[in-house]
Amino acid sequence: MSEFAHATRNRPLVVAANRLPVSRSGDGGWEPSPGGLVRALWPIVQETGGTWVGWTGEIDGPSDMIRLEGIDLHPIPISARERERYYEGFSNDTLWPLYHDAIRDSGYQIDDWTSYVDVNQRFAVRIANIAPPDAVVWLHDYHLQLVPALVREQRSDLRIGWFNHIPWPPVELFQRLPWRSEIIAGLLGSDLLGFQRERAAENFITAAQQLVGATEIDHGVLEHNGRRTRVGRFPISIDVEEFAMAASGRASRQRAAQFRVRLGDPEVILLGVDRLDYTKGIGSRLRAFGHLLDQGRLDPERHVLVQVATPTRERVEMYQEERREIEQIVGEINGRHARLGFPVIHYLYQTLSLDDLIPLYRAGDVMLVTPFRDGMNLVAKEYVAAHVDGDGVLVLSEFTGAADELEGAILVNPHDERALQDAIVQAVEMHRHERRARMEKMRAVVSAANVSEWARSFLGALCEP
Ligand code: F6P
Repeated sequence: MSEFAHATRNRPLVVAANRLPVSRSGDGGWEPSPGGLVRALWPIVQETGGTWVGWTGEIDGPSDMIRLEGIDLHPIPISARERERYYEGFSNDTLWPLYHDAIRDSGYQIDDWTSYVDVNQRFAVRIANIAPPDAVVWLHDYHLQLVPALVREQRSDLRIGWFNHIPWPPVELFQRLPWRSEIIAGLLGSDLLGFQRERAAENFITAAQQLVGATEIDHGVLEHNGRRTRVGRFPISIDVEEFAMAASGRASRQRAAQFRVRLGDPEVILLGVDRLDYTKGIGSRLRAFGHLLDQGRLDPERHVLVQVATPTRERVEMYQEERREIEQIVGEINGRHARLGFPVIHYLYQTLSLDDLIPLYRAGDVMLVTPFRDGMNLVAKEYVAAHVDGDGVLVLSEFTGAADELEGAILVNPHDERALQDAIVQAVEMHRHERRARMEKMRAVVSAANVSEWARSFLGALCEP
């Protein structure tokens, strides 16, 4: 029996997430698409002979099952109007900013909510129709918060778990949501609710008590309408071995060295790698770097910053604004501090392959991970896993899940520009001995918890008798 089949006690597994882990291949067929969650879950679904339910990303795409590399994929068709209302609207204009400390104002449109309900119902019907008897259903993320109760109504034989990849806000923020009770009731259809941080789990418990009258009958166990739901912390990780192996290879080492040469062989390469999202604090980080150059605390001949900003949700206005702002800041700083042929910020608005990303991590002497709020932030863990040389400094926002685990990082409040500047200088000037000691601590933490551990522990808890 495989380790995952053991965790699920041999029950078949159905995974559901907003996106199916595939994209179109050149010949019009399908191929597995890259991405952390996909890399984490694909082998688990494969080993358990499981299925995956989700959206292909296409408008009015197929609904017939796709069989790919031993996995049955069940596509949920989404119309253009639903992309606008369910995905861009309720999921990413209402929930996303609200769950990230209301860092931008959320829209509360009734039509977006209605579409969210419709699409959640479509997921629930499909899952109820295809799940084998006694299956384990593992739902992912904020797009599918009504699905647990909707599936439960149709199939009482299933074990249902939901994991939130993003933060869960304090009740004072969550209660702004006009449909707050419906969301909590939807989630309480689960047997197990998983969060990245202890605080997020506590926030959910408080919201369930205050907003729908659930009772905490034991630590982390809620009772509501005669049903029990466990609530716990399951911090996600990465495929540590994959990163470590790719980073240790000769090709990766050579490529990292080439990158350094191409950047003008600076003394220190600072690095930022983020989806271009307003929660990531990219603008503040760039401004802090620019001010350090203005003040002469950093030197454009010795210090360069590489900022990779991966395109994401490009049709959403707030993302377009964020991109304009970041690109303006990059332009201003380079305008002031670049020399001919040597920009001081190398900005890439691109999705890099792992073949480029891993050597870039290796080349990065200082990694800047400074979101205003982030569920976990896997880039921080990827950087540490890729630094097989035992060197490198991580500057990490206190407002990430990763900050709970990575004690060796320089922790910083990204809202405090002076603190951000000082953290960057501290990282750049850190003595080799201290760098290595801190990195050793972080590498021990990251390598002790592979993503397969995370999946096993969530599924094991979900399937406990
Ligand atoms: O971290 C939350 C999340 O929704 C992930 O599940 C996803 O990979 C990422 O953000 C990108 O989001 P989207 O699917 O909207 O491109």
